[in-house]
Amino acid sequence: MNYSDKVLDHFMNPRNVGELDNPDGVGQVGNINCGDIMRMTIKVVDNRISDIRFKTFGCGAAIAVSSMVTEMVRGKTLEESVTVNRDDVAGALGGLPEKKLHCSNLGTDALKAAVNDYWRRTGHPEKIVPLEDEHLEHQAEEQNSACCGSNERGCRQSADSGPVERTGD
Ligand code: FES
Repeated sequence: MNYSDKVLDHFMNPRNVGELDNPDGVGQVGNINCGDIMRMTIKVVDNRISDIRFKTFGCGAAIAVSSMVTEMVRGKTLEESVTVNRDDVAGALGGLPEKKLHCSNLGTDALKAAVNDYWRRTGHPEKIVPLEDEHLEHQAEEQNSACCGSNERGCRQSADSGPVERTGD
């Protein structure tokens, strides 16, 4: 599979990896097809994303996408940030192979889930936006549940089987 230089750069040197202390919003989504999971935490100041971190349990494209999304939305208003879609991210990365486009949905949807969580916490449920793809969206209170439950490709979590095990992509 051919990746652009930008994808390879963001995969090898991902920006904004980690998790914020006391985040204002947390979004975690799991792709129901590939089993990959992405988690974003945001800080919000004056309705703008002032800080953002990600953790991604998935393929190289998903890591590059996560990194790029964090760079694209930092400093944007919440309303602007949720308009960033998978084509914007794929374009900023110099393109993604067709089979990897769903990875960019994972990135934009993890961000939207984090912003939605902020809006829920702050009493603005009317602002909540739909996700682009079909995911298992994890609410903030479910944040320690680390698996999408797909049971595919080495993801062995089931309802009572304990922690996630992955055997790689
Ligand atoms: S996020 Fe599923 S293969 Fe990349």
